[in-house]
Amino acid sequence: MLLPVLRRFLRPYRRDVLIVVVLQFVQTLAALSLPSLNADIINDGVVVGDIGYILRVGGVMLLISGVQVACAIGAVYLGARAAMSVGRDLRHAVFSRVQRFSVAEASRFGAPSLITRSTNDVQQVQMVTLMTFTIIVMAPIMMVGGVIMALRQDVGLSALLLVVVPLLLGLMGLIATRMGPLFRLIQERIDRINRVMREQITGVRVIRAFNRQESERERFARANTELFDTSLRVGYFMALMFPTVMLIMNASSVAVVWFGAGRIDSGAMEVGSLVAFLNYLMQILMSVLMASMMFMLVPRASVSAERIDAVLATEPGIVRPAQPRELPAGRAVIELDGASFGFEGAAEPVLHDISLRLEPGRTTAVIGSTGAGKTTLVNLLPRLIDPTAGAVRAAGIDVRELDPAELRARISLVPQRAYLFSGTIASTLRFSRPEATDEELWAALDAAQASEFVRELGLDARVEQGGSNFSGGQRQRLAIARALLKPADLYVFDDSFSALDYATDARLRAGLPTATAGAAVLIVAQRVATIRDADEIVVLDEGRVVGRGTHGELMASNETYQEIVLSQLSVQEAA
Ligand code: CTP
Ligand code: MG
Repeated sequence: MLLPVLRRFLRPYRRDVLIVVVLQFVQTLAALSLPSLNADIINDGVVVGDIGYILRVGGVMLLISGVQVACAIGAVYLGARAAMSVGRDLRHAVFSRVQRFSVAEASRFGAPSLITRSTNDVQQVQMVTLMTFTIIVMAPIMMVGGVIMALRQDVGLSALLLVVVPLLLGLMGLIATRMGPLFRLIQERIDRINRVMREQITGVRVIRAFNRQESERERFARANTELFDTSLRVGYFMALMFPTVMLIMNASSVAVVWFGAGRIDSGAMEVGSLVAFLNYLMQILMSVLMASMMFMLVPRASVSAERIDAVLATEPGIVRPAQPRELPAGRAVIELDGASFGFEGAAEPVLHDISLRLEPGRTTAVIGSTGAGKTTLVNLLPRLIDPTAGAVRAAGIDVRELDPAELRARISLVPQRAYLFSGTIASTLRFSRPEATDEELWAALDAAQASEFVRELGLDARVEQGGSNFSGGQRQRLAIARALLKPADLYVFDDSFSALDYATDARLRAGLPTATAGAAVLIVAQRVATIRDADEIVVLDEGRVVGRGTHGELMASNETYQEIVLSQLSVQEAA
């Protein structure tokens, strides 16, 4: 998987890559020529005592070294730049792909894994790219060149290479194949650490409230130890690698000197050639070592590339059609037409054959116990999910034929879990309409019954991530103000009044027709008082509509509704 990913992401930098390869080629040739020249100095300069020759060839060696250094600097600079660019582009690709995911795709991977994939996994690929450009491209050139140069120095001694090189390659290959599977395990365990960490940070209050610190610490320790164990096993193999290489290198040097001495003694070889041969042997073995670094890095990067590619290859379930139809000007009526919905892999659908018409100027309410499918129904409207059967229509057009952005511009939603983005109160509210003036912000806050506490804090008061520095009720009201600020054809409130007391709830609802300027309103609630004035109340039970009508009609005829009302009345009366 590594190669296709790299090929795709290196394409914009192929000019740089080409230059890197050329520079590394020149650099390696320079490195290979030095021992030969050194041998010449010894054989024809030192042995004969020709100072002029020594200085001349020495000068050439100096010049070649200069070229080598310049090439190395250029190659590392360009290589590093290309590798880092690939990292940046990969992160960007993963991020923008995840942004387009619908809830279904995002939950398939899970947030912690998506974070690991866009950080750690990208880093592995970036690392292997960097290593390739800075050292590994040299390996094959150096290996082939080294063998040729060694042969030129002394054919007889070169027989040694036939033993040493395959031995080293074989050992490295053996170690690398044992390490490969461990790398996949490491990435998975990093995922797990992220998951546990995330859960513990978000759930810290629950953990303290139930005194679960000890067991949570153990859970983290377990995940941590597992990562440690796997990393340690990889470490053992890596630790084994270098001594192995050193042993083989030094043993082969001994062999070279041993056999070389005999050949010099018999006059078959010159002293300088022995020195040069030793140098070439080292260069060859170094190149084998570099190649074997590939064995260490590539398996891990392949696993990472696969994990990144899995994200990039996932098509968002909800996409803009190639030829989206336009919504007509004016207010659109949004409706559900026999819509059903089931979660992937679940046996029972969550919603069965729901029909609902949301018209301008009318307030529709959906009531039902927890788990009845209310939030699922709400998610269908702005096309956060698609129905598995039936359709959602806006102005008579199936929403799957519309640009989701255009549809969503017409719907303003207060989600059940009011999420506020970090910033100031003003910036949080303007999230829905950046150009809103301060007066408009205050009008929305007034309508959401939030101006009182905001007036005390000021519009520039800080909002922490998620709105965590506000109470549940304050958060809900800010989310309502944010939604009211956006002009829309349909306003949806998913259980948004639950944290408000009865009086505030009533005041807020009384102001809604004005605040929504006569758009359609959908209120989802569990509390009867919140919805009793609605033009139409839909009673939802286990994903089915079991009654619809006004409060009066339902009270007269609908058993489920009567039950809900009775259970809540007795609670109120008791209070
Ligand atoms: N569900 C699920 N997977 C999800 C969300 C919900 O399987 N990611 C299931 C739940 O088990 C639930 C059903 O879908 O039984 C309906 O969930 P939802 O629409 O969220 O129920 P609500 O009526 O909104 O419940 P509440 O009043 O508690 O918000
Ligand atoms: Mg809900």
